[in-house]
Amino acid sequence: MSDSKIIVALDYPTANAALMLAQQLDPQRCRLKIGKELFTRSGPAVVETLVKQGFDIFLDLKYHDIPHTVAKACVAAADLGVWMMNVHSLGGGAMMAAAREAIGNATDRPRLIAVTLLTSMDQNTFEQIGLQGTMTETVLRLAKLAEQSGLDGVVCSAQEATKLRIQHEQKFQLITPGIRPIGSTQDDQHRTMTPTEAIAAGSSYLVIGRPITAASDPMAALESIEQSLA
Ligand code: C5P
Repeated sequence: MSDSKIIVALDYPTANAALMLAQQLDPQRCRLKIGKELFTRSGPAVVETLVKQGFDIFLDLKYHDIPHTVAKACVAAADLGVWMMNVHSLGGGAMMAAAREAIGNATDRPRLIAVTLLTSMDQNTFEQIGLQGTMTETVLRLAKLAEQSGLDGVVCSAQEATKLRIQHEQKFQLITPGIRPIGSTQDDQHRTMTPTEAIAAGSSYLVIGRPITAASDPMAALESIEQSLA
């Protein structure tokens, strides 16, 4: 198991492309995130292969269903040997608690985190689905619900991290995407933070995709981020 704060987003359409990138990285120096596209195309096999290679895997499938179904999906993910998985907090407290109970209490159990509001959600969409109040208040409320339901943390933007860190102690993990090292392109991300800024804002783990995966030397890009954090 790695002690790295860096989770590399393996956003690839095929297992081959994902495995080729992983080959260029050191499992002691980063963890990997597998999301819906790669998982839907390549299935559990790519997760199992990377786990066998020694990588800690964050399975980012954002489960959201009735409590029983989500609990069973979480057990299935735990059986794959993943290090971290997530559910969508809008599924409610009973769903999150069922998921948490299902993965048990062994010391090597996977970490279970929640998505609060997707950062792609704007005020219009927020109101369209009948949510009220401000989006920030809602993120804080959903994060509190996740903690009360026994979850280990939430995915959040680095901008939200400062406020969440006031509400939650250090052991509640904040996983932040939208990270861009100084000098790298923004791509389609808005309101990004550098790795150093995100950690200072209270982030526990940084999800970083293209600044590492699109680099001509991914390991060198990872090392340069490590050095900026040292
Ligand atoms: O390449 P990049 O660093 O932008 O990748 C960020 C990763 O984090 C992608 O897998 C993206 O789907 C994910 N993510 C995000 N913003 C969120 C939640 C997840 O960028 N709010």
